[in-house]
Order: sequence, then C-alpha cells, then structure tokens
Amino acid sequence: MIDIKDRVQSAAAAAKITTAEAAAAFIKDGMNVGVSGFTPSGYPKAVPLALAERAKAGEKIKINLWTGASVGPEIDQALTEAGVIDRRLPYQTNDTLRKAINSGVVKYTDLHLSHVAQMARYGFFYGNQDADIAIVEACLVKDLGNGQIGIVPTTSMGNSSSFVQTAKQVIIEVNTSQPVELEGMHDSYVPMDPPNRKAIPVERPEDIIGTPYIPCSLDKVIAIVPCDITDKVRGLGDIDETSAAMGANLVAFFKEEVAAGRLPKNLLPLQSGVGAVANAVINGLVKSDFTDLTVYTEVIQDGMFDLMDAGKLRVCSGTALSPSPECLEKFYANVEKYKKYLVLRPQEVANSPEVARRIGVIAMNTAIEVDIYGNVNSTHICGTKLMNGIGGSGDYARNGFLTVFFTTSEAKGGAISSVVPFCSHLDHTEHDVDVIVSERGVADLRGLSPKERALVIIDKIASPKYQPLLLDYFNRACEACGNSQTPHLLDEAFAFHDRFVKTGTMEK
Ligand code: COA
Repeated sequence: MIDIKDRVQSAAAAAKITTAEAAAAFIKDGMNVGVSGFTPSGYPKAVPLALAERAKAGEKIKINLWTGASVGPEIDQALTEAGVIDRRLPYQTNDTLRKAINSGVVKYTDLHLSHVAQMARYGFFYGNQDADIAIVEACLVKDLGNGQIGIVPTTSMGNSSSFVQTAKQVIIEVNTSQPVELEGMHDSYVPMDPPNRKAIPVERPEDIIGTPYIPCSLDKVIAIVPCDITDKVRGLGDIDETSAAMGANLVAFFKEEVAAGRLPKNLLPLQSGVGAVANAVINGLVKSDFTDLTVYTEVIQDGMFDLMDAGKLRVCSGTALSPSPECLEKFYANVEKYKKYLVLRPQEVANSPEVARRIGVIAMNTAIEVDIYGNVNSTHICGTKLMNGIGGSGDYARNGFLTVFFTTSEAKGGAISSVVPFCSHLDHTEHDVDVIVSERGVADLRGLSPKERALVIIDKIASPKYQPLLLDYFNRACEACGNSQTPHLLDEAFAFHDRFVKTGTMEK
C-alpha cells in the first residue's frame, strides 16, 4: 500500500487508513454521494474505481452522484460503464456519460454551479436528504485537536467544504501525486443558510475569508484511503485563427471601453468560461498591453498561467485549476511561484452571484448558438441533445458588470450557423447579454431594442454565408408581425435547425 503516514498528521486519523475496496464497501444502493472535483482536477479516483469494480462483479448498486462540475474518467466514465449512476448533477463533459444522459439511462439535473451546495443543504434533492457520504481528495490531513481534522484539498475546491460539512460520513483519499506544497492555496468557507446568512466578505479577488483547510470532525471520517492516480487533465488544442481573432476583437473592445471611461485601465475582475475558445480569448489578453489584471472566475485554464508568466496578473481567484497536461507539469514544478497568485474557493463563493455583481466581474462565456435577438444557448445541440451543461455561466452572466458571450460565426465546417432566428434552447436570455463576439467582430447590444439588436448581430457577428438568410427571416418576420417588439415567424423560427437535422446543413 502507498505510504501516506507523513501526510496524515493525526494518530487517530491514521488509524482509519484502509484500502479503496474497504472504503467503497460503505457505499450502498440508493445513496447520495457527494464528491470533490471540478473539471478533471482534485476528484477522488481509487474509491470510485473500486465501486465500479463491485458493480462489474455483478452487485446491483445505483447511486445519486453529486460533484462540483465535470470530473475525471475514474468517476464519470467508470461509473457510467458499470451502470452505477442513477442520477447525476450538476455538470459533466464526459462522452460516455453524455451518451447515457442523451439516451435516458442517467437522469441529469443541469444546475447553476453556485446553487448546488446550498440546494443540498436546503434538502432540495431527492426527498429532503443530505449527502450520505462525501468522498474528497486531499494532499494532507492536519490535526486540529479536540477530535477535529483539517482536510487540505488538492487542485480544486468545488463543493467539498459543504459536502464534508453536511454529509453523514466522510471518506478521504490522500493522493500522493498531489504535492503537499498545495497547502496555503485554498480558502474554505461555507455560508450560513437563510435567515442567518451574512454577506460573503469578499471585496477584492485577493481577499481571504476562511481557512486553508476544510474542517471536519474525525467522528464522521469512516475511511482514509491512499491513492497515487494523477488528475486526468486534458489538452486544449492549438489556438486556431478563428479563436485568435475573437481574442483580438475582445481586446480591441476593452480598449474602447477604457478610452470611453467605462472600464478602469486594468479592467475589472475577469471571469472566463471553460473550453478551447475561452482559453484562446484569454491568450488575446496575454498578447495585449493590459497589466495589473485581476481574475475572479471558476476554472483556471492555461491562459491564466500565461498571464501570470507574462507578469500581467495580480491575483487569480477560482474554484479549480484546469490546466493542460503540460501546464499542470509546469505548475507542479513551480507551485511556490504560482501559489502567490492563486486562491481556490468553494464554488458557492467563486460563483456567488452576489459577489460577482458587487465586485463588478466581466463575465465571458462561450455559446453554442445565439439568436438574432441576443438569446444564448450554451447547453443543447439542436435543442434536444445535451452537450455539457450550463456550468457557472449563468452565475456570472446574469450578474456581471459586463456580460460577454463568444461564438464562432459557423460550426461544423460551415454546415451550422451559430447565429439562428431563435435559439433551440435557452440558457441566457436577451436580458442578460451585453456583448457578443465572433471572429468577425463585436455586437454591442447594450441599450438597443430587439429589432436594433437583430440588425447589429446579423451585421457584426454572423457568417456572410448565412447573413442573407437571417436578414430575409428578420424582414419577413417584421412584416408579418406588424413590427411588433420581437418579430418571429412561429412556423419558421426553427427552420434552420430543422433543415440541419434533415439535410446535414442549415444552408438552403
Ligand atoms: N451546433 C452544433 N455543434 C456546435 C455548435 C452548434 N451551434 N457550436 C459548437 N458546436 C460544437 C463544436 O463543433 C465542437 O464539437 P466537437 O467537440 O465535436 O469538435 C463542440 O461544440 C465544442 O465547441 P468549441 O467551438 O470547441 O468550443 P468550446 O470547447 O469552447 O466549448 C461550449 C463551447 C459552449 C460547449 C462550452 O463552453 C460549454 O460547455 N459551455 C457551457 C458551460 C459554461 O459556459 N461554463 C463556463 C462557466 S465558468
């Protein structure tokens, strides 16, 4: 067994060290299981794999699985393949699980990520039950005295603090692939619930408001499991011309905003979404002459590390590191250097709508499609098939100082127009969207009426190939509706999608 004695600094806790199989045996059919992890970072690995083995050996076991967001394949893939997941929330990005969701095998609840921990505490999930078991990854277990331990998390915070606080039992995976130097990077804080909740006292992204470990009563800990399986972080792919153009468009827009006096010269705390596009856009800032930037975000991808390397970032607050394999290696080799910039918070603090509004976050997220009036679909392909989930985009978009969405003007080699007459699924409404950026340009929608927005969106960000079709739809809709507030041809609003499903392209 991997030796974790020096990482478990309490004799009473060390007495609970056991195998992954013995720990997994505590998980029973029908339980609610809350795990650490947010993106493939800081999630438990050994215990979920042992649980999957039990099911593969023929045991009938199904659980309701709660996470921070997406997690690694040792959870979502292994447990889906073994048929263990009955219900899943709040976000995922795994191909195998996505197929199980889109074929009705797994019941999926797609939630704003700031809501999850409080909803669990409020008893809103499955008949007023707390998490039965929390499984969290740690790099260190500290002895706080009086029967209390401090769980030092690893590469993410997610919902761990709240799950540990409310779960009936806790399993800790001590992962020796995670450096102990991670200690000091986390800020654990669980708000009280209404009517006793106080304001979350974050006034600047660098503010520390909690403890560098998750406090836990040793009584609740039923197993401590050694693990040396690494985070299965994923590459982001090269930054292509299209994404680089979006980054450049954003930087030009920010410069105009600073010149107009609407943004300070080091901007405001930046929030940047998940995925290749978001990362590429941050790369645009790396190349810009903006300095002394601050970040108050959810996931910390490669671009943020590049900003730190370029000396352009003062602080980077998030809930998870989400680097590529190369970037994770760079981080592990220089933890002390990067730690100075980093704060990892629980997602209900990192994504807090109230904090985002108050500190004036610039919310930047990626859309699957937008419509001519500025509504955004972030989650569903052709209105029916789940892609990933809303994630934290709604937490910030609804509450940002300035809310930006990115989309390439076309998808799937031009067979899809990312600007459509009416979004086939709605995640962010026209009321929450200030600016849309594509590789073609910037549609600044602030203060415009729906009909004005339509003309700007079609002109500035839609693909030239689809502009005539979109304009034709808009003009005929205006005529048919007598120039009503938001004109639509109800029998044609989804004609672009319908054509794509039937013919493989939205082109006529
Ligand atoms: N119709 C069909 N497919 C589309 C599409 C459209 N209009 N637009 C994009 N896609 C496909 C792409 O072709 C690509 O498919 P592939 O994986 O088969 O290549 C996939 O969606 C991802 O698109 P990509 O352009 O690579 O962007 P991305 O990696 O930046 O991801 C989202 C974009 C929207 C899927 C992703 O940002 C997301 O899940 N967002 C919701 C959650 C969120 O915003 N979280 C941030 C909170 S902090």
